[in-house]
Amino acid sequence: MDEARRPLIEIAGVSKHFGEGEARVDALRDIDLTVRRGEVVALLGPSGSGKTTLLNVIGCIIAPTVGRVTLDGELVYDNRALRGDLRRLRLDKIGFIFQFHNLLPFLNARDNVALVLTLAGRSSAEAQERALELLDYLEVGHRKDAMPAVLSGGEAQRVAIARALANSPRIILADEPTAALDSKRAGIVMDLLRKLAAEHDACIVAVTHDEKIYDRFDRLFHLRDGVLEDQEEEAT
Ligand SMILES: Nc1ncnc2c1ncn2[C@@H]1O[C@H](COP(=O)(O)OP(=O)(O)OP(=O)(O)O)[C@@H](O)[C@H]1O
Ligand SMILES: [Mg+2]
Repeated sequence: MDEARRPLIEIAGVSKHFGEGEARVDALRDIDLTVRRGEVVALLGPSGSGKTTLLNVIGCIIAPTVGRVTLDGELVYDNRALRGDLRRLRLDKIGFIFQFHNLLPFLNARDNVALVLTLAGRSSAEAQERALELLDYLEVGHRKDAMPAVLSGGEAQRVAIARALANSPRIILADEPTAALDSKRAGIVMDLLRKLAAEHDACIVAVTHDEKIYDRFDRLFHLRDGVLEDQEEEAT
């Protein structure tokens, strides 16, 4: 296969339900989705349609009830059976950006980023150096010593993005990454994510409700009651 078009995410026949009997909720129903290197795709859909659940399945945070999940060629879930080493996969291949930045309040910006690198086995000096490089790249290096509580929404989100990118993940998952930002900053964050995907052969799957940034995506997928509806190709 053409290396450049290699799939990073392959979801095949994935369903997920929560609860049983009367309380059963079918959050995902028979989802097929392939995302390739360099692609930036959006998950759209009303509240409760399964967007976060799908992101969590891709990110190995929850297991599907049935179906197969293959990440960067590695089979992770085969129906219920776990095939991959989840901790290693999460650290090496997946970067998660949450709706609200989720920074640790008792660590400054630089240490929030460095922590991920230390967990992945880098020395503290290396982690500190790389953390600063990343913050500079995201143009928040000047805020390295600031605690999360004193950062603006946009600054905190860029620190969170730096943290998600710390281990150069191939698969970047974002749950409403621009929800806390005004439209100008939202555009800047999306352009940055696009650039990262292109430069690092990564892919991005982002949940969004923000129509202003739809033109920043290569493909848009709609979820409705757990069903993934036909994709739209961005006509740009
Ligand atoms: N841990 C859980 N236990 C039980 N039900 C859950 C759980 N997580 C999600 N659900 C249910 O699964 C369905 C899909 O939820 P999900 O969070 O994926 O929706 P969403 O599309 O992200 O919505 P929103 O736009 O509001 O964030 C909802 O009906 C939700 O109540
Ligand atoms: Mg959600």
